[in-house]
Amino acid sequence: NLYPLLAALAGYLIGSLSFAVIVSKFMGLSDPRSYGSGNPGATNVLRSGNKLAAILTLLFDALKGYLPVLAVLIWGERFGLGESSAALVGLAAFLGHLWPVFFRFKGGKGVATAAGVILAINPLLGAATLLTWVIIAYFSRYSSLAAIVAAIFAPFYQMLIWGASPTVMALLVLSLLLIWRHEANIKKLLNGTESKLGQKATAAA
Ligand code: G3P
Repeated sequence: NLYPLLAALAGYLIGSLSFAVIVSKFMGLSDPRSYGSGNPGATNVLRSGNKLAAILTLLFDALKGYLPVLAVLIWGERFGLGESSAALVGLAAFLGHLWPVFFRFKGGKGVATAAGVILAINPLLGAATLLTWVIIAYFSRYSSLAAIVAAIFAPFYQMLIWGASPTVMALLVLSLLLIWRHEANIKKLLNGTESKLGQKATAAA
């Protein structure tokens, strides 16, 4: 059965659409890879000062994780695709965001896409993970710290409430990759140079 592989490939291609770059281009803004953290993500687009561009980036990057998983959950059965395949496709979309085939494999950190994937896999898990992000972001004002903490908690929430499953494994891989992609942020958090949410930046770091 080649369907899981084909679905994962489709997920990867959709995930490869780096909306921080696409939205910025459409709106006539600078390429987010050229300023702030240099990361093609909603947090960095926000540093351009254009809130709408940041919100659209967040929305589209989340949707590219959400929709492929949802599609598998809705129409996958007739192709023999179940819950594990849905998690696999979500992981593939996330990998596409990190290493996009359309952008020389230089992608982002996967926070918005992971949120979309998690919300589609399990809305309750998604809500708990988002709430974790919001609480940490509210008190610390660090988008990166909020993402790291939420990523640590997500697989635990899933396992504690719904038990061990292939979905937990997919979430674990996703979380570990997400945290690893935040290496530069972790260093900045530790030495106190990480920029807070909403802080504008001009030079690329
Ligand atoms: O969305 C990624 C976020 O957690 C950190 O982004 O631009 O501050 O490295 P950035």
